[in-house]
Amino acid sequence: MSRKIRKAIFPVAGLGTRFLPATKALPKEMLPVVDKPLIQYAVEEAFAAGIEQIIFVTGRGKGALEDHFDHSYELESTLKKRGKSKTLHTVEALIPETGSIVYTRQNQPLGLGHAIWCARDVVGDEPFAVLLADDLVKAEKPVLSQMVEAFKTTQSSMVAVMEVPPQQTDRYGIVGGKREGDKLIRIDSLVEKPAPSEAPTNQAIIGRYILTPEIFDLLKRKEFGAGGEIQITDAMAHLLKTQAIYGYLFDGIRFDCGDKAGFQMANIAYALDNPTIGDEVLHYIKEVAAPHFDTV
Ligand code: UTP
Repeated sequence: MSRKIRKAIFPVAGLGTRFLPATKALPKEMLPVVDKPLIQYAVEEAFAAGIEQIIFVTGRGKGALEDHFDHSYELESTLKKRGKSKTLHTVEALIPETGSIVYTRQNQPLGLGHAIWCARDVVGDEPFAVLLADDLVKAEKPVLSQMVEAFKTTQSSMVAVMEVPPQQTDRYGIVGGKREGDKLIRIDSLVEKPAPSEAPTNQAIIGRYILTPEIFDLLKRKEFGAGGEIQITDAMAHLLKTQAIYGYLFDGIRFDCGDKAGFQMANIAYALDNPTIGDEVLHYIKEVAAPHFDTV
């Protein structure tokens, strides 16, 4: 039977320690790339892929995320009074249909696997997507749409993968396996943050997953792995014993926006593409910054 991906989990309960002090009171997912917070890019990607229900797994201090997707009556009436109808439309357009966002809470940041497990009752017994908003992927066709398309054929769990420099394997979940066609890897091993000498390959998992519901029983075991956290990669390594899991070699450029350098690069890439500010930013890079490149 062909199953459809209707629900997406957004784990947003992490502490964002790599981005302190900016993330002390501000959720990492609210950091803006040009003029939209990271979470909005990810939510738009999910809806574009046909997702009907968004499940935020939040934690302490994440109220701004809830407010972002809700009405702000004061702001809306002020914009209306001032005749700023275009801006008003932008603000109103980002509010999803009532009931399509569900919030659940991870009361301790025990890891990504644990955050996903916190959404088990909302997801129920169907395959679902997971999006990590701090992985921003610039692509003609959004990554989740690419994966949902592939899922129609595989009907199996799937992770987005990309090659990373071999010396960086200890920052990622790493997969090993056999290529099946252009885009898929039939995974035969998964390991979280292996040292470069122990990594099976340099194919790294990035923050887009499609998972079958059997993963919840494996996460329930609460096994602590790399970094003392409950890792989704470890649960998937168990899942691999009973089900196929695929790596999906997506089209697009991925920016790690949980990292200061990755975040700046994302802003440059999106700013250059932006019809309102692109020329100005390009002028700055070429005419003001570039002449100094040799002296810094
Ligand atoms: P990260 O590995 O980026 O961790 O989490 P982090 O805490 O957010 O950031 P750093 O490393 O301290 O800077 C990957 C994703 O998993 C979520 C995060 O919100 C992020 O989207 N996460 C992580 C949780 O929801 N709960 C957790 O316990 C851990």
